[in-house]
Amino acid sequence: MTVKKLRVLLVEASPEDAGRTLAKLEQGGYAVEHLRVDNAPAMQAALAGNGRPEGGWEIVLCSHDPSGFCGLAALRLMQAEGVDLPFLFLSHDLREETIIHAIQSGAGGYIFKDSLSRLAPAIEHSLREARIRREHRAAQLALRELSSHIQDVREQERLHIAHDIHDDMGGTLTAIKLDIAWLSERLDAQNPELVAKAKGIEALVDRCIASANNILRTLRPSVLDSFGIIAAIEMEAEEFEKRTGISCPINQVDEGMEISPDTSIALFRIFQEMLTNIMKHAKASQVTVDIANRKDGVDLIVSDNGRGLNEADRLKPRSFGLRGIQERVAHFNGEMRISSTPGQGTTVAVHIPHTPVNPAADGSLPQSQRTLF
Ligand SMILES: Nc1ncnc2c1ncn2[C@@H]1O[C@H](COP(=O)(O)OP(=O)(O)OP(=O)(O)O)[C@@H](O)[C@H]1O
Ligand SMILES: [Mg+2]
Repeated sequence: MTVKKLRVLLVEASPEDAGRTLAKLEQGGYAVEHLRVDNAPAMQAALAGNGRPEGGWEIVLCSHDPSGFCGLAALRLMQAEGVDLPFLFLSHDLREETIIHAIQSGAGGYIFKDSLSRLAPAIEHSLREARIRREHRAAQLALRELSSHIQDVREQERLHIAHDIHDDMGGTLTAIKLDIAWLSERLDAQNPELVAKAKGIEALVDRCIASANNILRTLRPSVLDSFGIIAAIEMEAEEFEKRTGISCPINQVDEGMEISPDTSIALFRIFQEMLTNIMKHAKASQVTVDIANRKDGVDLIVSDNGRGLNEADRLKPRSFGLRGIQERVAHFNGEMRISSTPGQGTTVAVHIPHTPVNPAADGSLPQSQRTLF
């Protein structure tokens, strides 16, 4: 039999019971390293042991005594410490309600002390489950990091394109405009055909400038960098009203806290997605927006009176808007809430805590590059 190493935190008041448990583990092929504790301070110290995660323990085996510390009190202490270790109860008490209560409280298993034959398989099972939970958490974390990296890259990319449009296209269009002005001055007024042609070219250049400014606005709304997120949201809401005819008033509170450029752009993209969803799905006739810049962070709440959404809508496999909002908010340790009543509308609320503003990492467009003209 191969010997498996196991680090066990034993929560047990009886040295005899502890001895029997350890003997059974050895029979089951485990080389056990253990610590026995029977009170809260000792367990707390063991879980924090040597600065290792979870004190370096792999499993907690806890005697289930109805009175005293060993039992539910130990389980609650572990939960309160935020420690996620496999936790099994060992008990002489086989009453059904006791077992159900123990499992409902969050224990991973319940084993009868007078017959420890299930101990080794129960430990195997708990360790396997804990490993799966850990891998799942690590995969989720990696996905979250990847997703926020992709968001960052997209914003950087947009910024670069905005710079290029401004510098390359802007320079060329300015030169054309100046040349046409030079030509127009020299055109013979007696040749109306040529004068009209020059005016036509000038109008085309103006259209081109307007559309380049539009593209710049979509890539990086200049008002966001010049006047901040609240003004940018106001402008976006006005655009939305113009485009859809749906009224979209804004209530705002601004306690003047500085909002980092990263938070601003995230809030702006979230707001754009919220409005796009309303346009695409809600069939609403009224939207209200609440934006509040408070001491503890920024709250953005958008409500519509449309058809509402349900759980299945939120989980559509090929829909990424709401997931994107969730990811952006999670990146800042914020929160997102969706509430909806079918037929009566939807409210999507996000809260993003303030993060320190780092001027070196400012991702905004320089003042001189916010519009072409
Ligand atoms: N304000 C809303 N009112 C009604 N339904 C909504 C609203 N917002 C979202 N939904 C529903 O939730 C679903 C998921 O929205 P989500 O933004 O995640 O994806 P999507 O808009 O379908 O696609 P995309 O990936 O382009 O955003 C939508 O398909 C829609 O059914
Ligand atoms: Mg969407």
